[in-house]
Amino acid sequence: MSQPDVFPPSEEFVRRARVQGMEGYRALYDDALRDPEEFWGDVARREVHWFEPWKTVLDWQPPAAQWFVGGKTNVSYNCLDRHLDGPRKNKVAIQWEGEPGEQRAITYLDLHRLVVRFASVLKARGHKAGDRAIIYMPMIPEAVVAMLACTRLGIIHSVVFGGFSAEALKARIQDLGAAAVITADGGYRRGKEIKLKPAVDEALEECPTVRDCIVYRRTGSETTMKDGRDLWWHDLDETATEDCPAVPLDSEHPLFVLYTSGTTGKPKGILHTTGGYLTYVTATMKWVFDLREEDTFWCNADIGWVTGHSYVVYGPLSAGATGVLYEGAPDYPAFDRWWRIVEKYRVNILYTSPTAIRALIRQGEQWPNGHDLSSLRLLGSVGEPINPAAWEWYHRVIGKGRCPIVDTWWQTETGGILIAPMPGAVPLKPGSGTLPMPGLLPAIVDIKGNEVVPGQEGFLIMRRPWPSMIRTIWGDPERYKEQYWSQIPGAYFTGDAARCDEDGYYWVLGRVDDVMNVSGHRLSTMEVESALVKHAAVAEAAVVGKPHEITGQAVCCFVTLKKGAHDHTALGKELRNWVAHEIGAFARPEEIRFTDALPKTRSGKIMRRLLRELVTNKTVAGDVTTLEDMSVINTLAAQHDED
Ligand code: WTA
Repeated sequence: MSQPDVFPPSEEFVRRARVQGMEGYRALYDDALRDPEEFWGDVARREVHWFEPWKTVLDWQPPAAQWFVGGKTNVSYNCLDRHLDGPRKNKVAIQWEGEPGEQRAITYLDLHRLVVRFASVLKARGHKAGDRAIIYMPMIPEAVVAMLACTRLGIIHSVVFGGFSAEALKARIQDLGAAAVITADGGYRRGKEIKLKPAVDEALEECPTVRDCIVYRRTGSETTMKDGRDLWWHDLDETATEDCPAVPLDSEHPLFVLYTSGTTGKPKGILHTTGGYLTYVTATMKWVFDLREEDTFWCNADIGWVTGHSYVVYGPLSAGATGVLYEGAPDYPAFDRWWRIVEKYRVNILYTSPTAIRALIRQGEQWPNGHDLSSLRLLGSVGEPINPAAWEWYHRVIGKGRCPIVDTWWQTETGGILIAPMPGAVPLKPGSGTLPMPGLLPAIVDIKGNEVVPGQEGFLIMRRPWPSMIRTIWGDPERYKEQYWSQIPGAYFTGDAARCDEDGYYWVLGRVDDVMNVSGHRLSTMEVESALVKHAAVAEAAVVGKPHEITGQAVCCFVTLKKGAHDHTALGKELRNWVAHEIGAFARPEEIRFTDALPKTRSGKIMRRLLRELVTNKTVAGDVTTLEDMSVINTLAAQHDED
């Protein structure tokens, strides 16, 4: 293998960085390795306000971790109140732009007032610590307000990405037994209104636990409200007070549940708690993004995903940053919308995904080149490995060769970034997340748990607990143990394959399970399969991820039909829409292939591996010894040739 290019940080960057040079990184890392509890205790004291100090930094009874045990804190207090006594009081917290072009610059003082008012409303309606609320909103400041208002009272929130369907929303509300749903009439995307309330109405038909459905008026379009259940945000605001202090909560009080795809058809509710999560996201804002007081930080992930939680909302606000929030699509009204935003707000740090970069590359350099991007000093990437072409373009066209790219590896379960370069310290190698954060001890092992030699591929695991780690799967502690802690005893199993090179740099290769990564969104093959087999015409379905130039992977479905006459073209279209209806538009399959039989093992298990191979290489060369009937695979391969 040829040596990859190495990009050390410029002297100029190092000189002003929070962590300077490899010595700086090593000192931090070694410190944490020597005495993790002392290290994290120091970080938590420095980065977070505590109403009451903790008694024990870490209580680790694998796989149960408790961080800062006995300490009391509050996330909304840390993101808002503590900034009001100093120069951040009138600093812009959220620089919002709606897709149609509206602008709102919301200061910390403004945001505090909005949050306190909304929290007072929730409290008056009887919502309290430990209750659950669903947030299903467009990318508007009120989505952030809703999240922070929940945390102010200790209400456990679960944000459901606005692209999820009524079915997916319903499943989440039911799993959580939520008492409140906070939503909006709709939002804007690509010049059109995307309505949200009708999906909520559909979902709520079968959600008896929901007492209150609070609706923010964003678009003003016709919206049906159900008496006794639905309430307008602006009506409730008339009854709001500005006396609603942050509740001191136990460090381990549940903060939020975020659903993500696992290897079964049922999404997992990943639970994060208060003190450890807050400590970790605040620290990584500074380590990875080298945040300065005067920076304008723009992470353009949706708040419905973990990146939005940790690096749009909690990390930036806790660190007192100015963050940009943009409601709409990157290509509306034209492909330069993002670059207009960077120029207009003089964005200094841009954090986005490889899939977005690839989509922009396709439109050509003229779009970014038409704008002044000189304010940018640091770029970030998240969601999947960044391919060399995307890295090169991002570095050259967007960063003008000046800006380091922090490739950040992490997961919904990890809460915050675990592997990434500290930009003033660690030389970059395109495609590698480089080195672990302090206090993290990754390893690459084989199936038996033995560490493999540098350069060899294996499973990525973490040998030590960290403050923002998943605590459990909501309502399913067994699945938590089984999924993350039973593969390699004593270690956290990430589900990713990776290798570590001679310099200790990590190269993440992708998932080792049946989870697809479509446009940086996790989607389980089983989830799509269970959606498909719910359709009356479908007998069986096998779903695999197929390599895709822009989205990384695309959903490809092999379907066998029940007896009867079928119009394949019409049914293909119908099934694609069906999946979008069952899960959400982002899960719409790219391809539906009808077949008479699926390849199975002798014991009847569908061999997705072969299908994956087929859609990737167009032929199957792998081990087929357990395959029941080779003719199936030959037929599928022949069909492929006809395409
Ligand atoms: C993948 C998103 C390579 C990985 C924060 C992981 C990455 C899954 C990277 C988590 C990266 C994320 N390089 N792969 N920088 N970042 N991944 O839960 O497979 O939506 O397990 O969290 O995305 O996706 P999730």
